[in-house]
Amino acid sequence: MKDLKGLVLCGGRGTRLRPLTYTSAKQLIPVANKPILHFVLDQVAEAGIRDVGIIISPETGAAVQGAIGTGERWGLRATYITQDAPSGLAHAVLTARSFLEDSPFLMFLGDNLIQGGVQALRQRFAGSEADALILLKEVADPRQFGVAVLNGDGSVHALVEKPQTPPSNLALVGVYLFRPAIHAAIARIRPSARGELEITDAIQELLRAGGRVETVRLEGWWLDAGKKDDLLEANRAVLDEFTRREILGDVGDECTVTGRVAIGRLTTVERSTIRGPAVIGERCRIQGAFIGPYSAIGDGTVVTQSSVQHSVVLDGCRLEGVDRLEDSVLGRAVTITRAADGPKALRVFVSDDSKISL
Ligand code: G1P
Repeated sequence: MKDLKGLVLCGGRGTRLRPLTYTSAKQLIPVANKPILHFVLDQVAEAGIRDVGIIISPETGAAVQGAIGTGERWGLRATYITQDAPSGLAHAVLTARSFLEDSPFLMFLGDNLIQGGVQALRQRFAGSEADALILLKEVADPRQFGVAVLNGDGSVHALVEKPQTPPSNLALVGVYLFRPAIHAAIARIRPSARGELEITDAIQELLRAGGRVETVRLEGWWLDAGKKDDLLEANRAVLDEFTRREILGDVGDECTVTGRVAIGRLTTVERSTIRGPAVIGERCRIQGAFIGPYSAIGDGTVVTQSSVQHSVVLDGCRLEGVDRLEDSVLGRAVTITRAADGPKALRVFVSDDSKISL
């Protein structure tokens, strides 16, 4: 078998993550202080893949390329492929046709995170004759996803994209393995009601034409970090799984730091309590503050007389006198200051350079 290639999708407009995606590609938004795309590339590399096509959009392509470069940091060889318009996942495969040639490939959506990586999936695919291997996960609201209907013996009966009345609760996770038969199937499908060439329709077409489609149930977590609550959930899951206690910054005497907390270089912590799992970047100043579990504080952020928990705070923010910031996402360089008689708890989702006085 030819070597497996990777195809990582970083196109799309990220409309569900606005306003953050006005200034950043959704795949570059950090969870636990690390861009989602880095986790994806970690997993692609870990599965032994070397050649990776990265689908980018005209709007955010330069930012993605700037963040990933040649890919050598991961031991990968990255080829950038521009998809002119967000015309669907199958359209992305079509756009990457000359890069993919007739190799089998792993397609990974750049904003999806799965627990445990893709190595086992790759092995399973190598040992099978499937034209497509898809990953399924039970979800509460399948209407937002591609949905699979299985036969009694576990084989795939049908696949539908974002059905109004879901025939099952098994969603297609954004990680797929294909052999080249998928290309002919893509050539036979038409755009969906939302005007996109859907990969779900292409796999359904593959099945109809007698192709072999196998499934694997994902046991661990799956996060489609495409919207605010999922982003917070992704942040929570990743902090839970990966945070190790590592204090590189300077923590003063009157501080309590409990649990798995990572504090970056040149960060100072004074008269504060930090409770993990939490991560604080480099060059931050934390004074008279409480940083609670599931918080990720980006580089160069200042938190004084404030309390933060279950939130993602990007680089260069300033929080002053904010009694309780929770379940929030702050873009870069956001300032929130509160007067002595201002409101106590606060839940916000704001983009870069926002200023809020309470
Ligand atoms: C896409 C696919 C869908 C899949 C989902 C996984 O949806 O079309 O079948 O379940 O990714 O994240 P989209 O993100 O385009 O809405």
